[in-house]
Amino acid sequence: MGDEQNSLDHEFANYTTCHGAARIANAKNKPHMALWTLIFLAAFGLCTWQIVDRFNNYFAYRTGTEINVQLESELTFPAVTICDFNRIRGSGVTENDLAYLGALYQIAALVSDPVALRNLSESIDWDAFNASAGLVEDFPGFVRRNGFVLDNVTLAECSWRGSRCYAENFTHVFTEYGNCWTFNSEKNSPLRQTSPGAGNGLKLILDIQTHEYTEDPFIGNLEYGLVFQVHDQYEPPRPELVGTAVAPGSHTYASTFQTHVKNQQAPWGQCDPRKDQNFLKYFDKYTLAGCLLECRAEIVVRACNCRPLYYPGDVDYCTALELTTCALPTLATFLSETNEFDFCGCTVPCEYTSYSSQVSYAGYPSLKAAEFYETTFNYSRGYMSTNVVLLDVYYHELRSTSWEQFKAVEESGLISDVGGQLGFFIGCSVITLWEFLEYLALKFSAFFLFSSKPSSKTATKDGVKVDNAMVFENTAAGDAEKTEITELSTIRTTSNGEKSAVLEMT
Ligand SMILES: *[C@@H]1O[C@H](CO)[C@@H](O)[C@H](O)[C@H]1NC(C)=O
Ligand SMILES: *[C@@H]1O[C@H](CO)[C@@H](O)[C@H](O)[C@H]1NC(C)=O
Ligand SMILES: *[C@@H]1O[C@H](CO)[C@@H](O)[C@H](O)[C@H]1NC(C)=O
Ligand SMILES: *[C@@H]1O[C@H](CO)[C@@H](O)[C@H](O)[C@H]1NC(C)=O
Ligand SMILES: *[C@@H]1O[C@H](CO)[C@@H](O)[C@H](O)[C@H]1NC(C)=O
Repeated sequence: MGDEQNSLDHEFANYTTCHGAARIANAKNKPHMALWTLIFLAAFGLCTWQIVDRFNNYFAYRTGTEINVQLESELTFPAVTICDFNRIRGSGVTENDLAYLGALYQIAALVSDPVALRNLSESIDWDAFNASAGLVEDFPGFVRRNGFVLDNVTLAECSWRGSRCYAENFTHVFTEYGNCWTFNSEKNSPLRQTSPGAGNGLKLILDIQTHEYTEDPFIGNLEYGLVFQVHDQYEPPRPELVGTAVAPGSHTYASTFQTHVKNQQAPWGQCDPRKDQNFLKYFDKYTLAGCLLECRAEIVVRACNCRPLYYPGDVDYCTALELTTCALPTLATFLSETNEFDFCGCTVPCEYTSYSSQVSYAGYPSLKAAEFYETTFNYSRGYMSTNVVLLDVYYHELRSTSWEQFKAVEESGLISDVGGQLGFFIGCSVITLWEFLEYLALKFSAFFLFSSKPSSKTATKDGVKVDNAMVFENTAAGDAEKTEITELSTIRTTSNGEKSAVLEMT
C-alpha cells in the first residue's frame, strides 16, 4: 500500500499547477532534485517576503486624493451669514443695563476659576444695578431686540443677481456675536448663481451705525465693522471662528469657491458613515460644526443646567448672570483642559460641501460718490467712510472642485498583488489551493477508510495496508530514497559522457 500512497503523492506532484513540485518529483537524480528543491525554496521564500510586503502595503491604509474641476452652467449659492462686531445697540438700552452687563463681563474677565467666580458673583448685589427686567430675566429676548438689527435703515441696499432683496430675505441666528443674519438659508431650495462675476451674486450695502456701539474697551470687541461667513446651508455658522471681517469705507469683493469633499471612512480616513444619519439631535445633517456645538451645549447644560443662546438644544436659555458666571468659565476650563475633538468624538463628515472666499478690497466711496450720497441721503460728512459697508459675495467662475479621497490600495489590488507574487515565484493560483485541498481530502479518506476496516473485519490484505498507511510518511520517505539510490546507481553505471550530460541538464 505504501507504493499506492506514494503514487498518490507522485501523481499530485505531477498534475498540480504549482509546477515547482513536479520539477522536484521528476528530478533525474539527487543533485538535480536538490537543485530544484533549492530553487523552489528560494522562490517560496521570495514569494513569502513579497506577500508580507504586499500585506503591509495594504494594511498601511494609505490614501490618495483625486481633484476634479468641473465647470457648471449654474452653481448653488452658499448661505451668507453677517454679524456685527457690536453686540448690543446703545439706543434701546438704559445706562443701568449697560452697567450691569459691563460688570458681569468684567468680573468674568478678572476671575477665571468657575468656583471662585461664583463665590464672587454671589457676594455682589446685582439688584443694586437696577437693570431692566427684560435683561435680567430674558437675555436672548434682550439680545434679539437690542442687538444687530437688519431693517430698511441698516440694510440700505440688497440685491441678488441684480434684483432687489429685503431684510425679510434674511433669517435670524444667534452666534457669539449676538444677532446674526443669514441670506439664502433655505436648505431645500437654495438660490443658484447662473452667470459668473461680481454683481451676479449677492450685493449688500449696510449702515452699521457706529454711534450705536456699546462694546466695552477693556473686555469687548475693539473693532467696528461686520463679520461674514459663507457656508453650507446645513452647517451652523460659527463666524467667531471662521468669519471674515469687513471694514466700512471699503468695497469688499468676496469671490467664493465651492469644494465638494469626500472622505474615506476609518481606517483610511477619519469619517464615520454611521454619523451621517440622525447622529445630531438638533441638526438635519451631520457637520463638524454642528457636532461641536451640540457637544459644547451638553457640557454647559451638565454644569449650569442652562444653555447659552447660541447653542442648540431644548433646555432653557441661560440668563446673562448664568452665562458669565457659569457657562463661559465652564467652557473655558473645558477647552483648556480637554481636546475637544477627542472628547466629543466629532470627526469630519464623509461628504460635505465647503466654501471659502478670497477677499479683495477697494476704497469706497470715492469723493464724488460721497458728495452724491451726502446730498441725496443727507448723510453727514465722512459718515459713509466710517459707517457704510459694501459687500459683494459671488462666484467669479461657475466652477466646482471636488476632492475625493481614495484608497491607494484597494482589496482587489491586494488580491492581484498576492496572486502576482504567487504566480510569478511559485506558479500557484486559487485553483492550486483547491488541488491541495482535494489531495489532502484524498489522503485523509484513504487513511480513515482503511484504518476503520480492521476493527470490523479480520486481518485481510486491507489490514496489512492499514499498517503501512499508518507509517506511510516514513515508508514513503524510505521508498523515495530507495528510488534515488537506484537512479544514482543507474547513472553511475552509465558512461561518463552520459552522466555529465544529465548533470548539465540540472
Ligand atoms: C467659595 O465659597 C465657599 C463658602 O461659601 C468656600 O468654602 C470656598 O473655599 C470658596 N471657594 C473659593 C475658590 O473661593
Ligand atoms: C430703577 O429704574 C427705574 C427706571 O429705570 C426707576 O424708576 C427706579 O427709580 C430705579 N430704582 C432705583 C432703586 O434706582
Ligand atoms: C421701513 O420700514 C418701516 C417699518 O417696517 C416702514 O414704516 C417704513 O416706511 C420703511 N421705510 C422705507 C423707506 O421703506
Ligand atoms: C425675498 O423675499 C420675497 C418675499 O418673501 C421673495 O418674493 C423673494 O423671492 C425673495 N428674494 C430672494 C432673493 O430670496
Ligand atoms: C439733514 O440732516 C440734518 C441733521 O442731520 C437736518 O437738520 C436736516 O433737516 C436734514 N435735511 C433734510 C433735507 O432732510
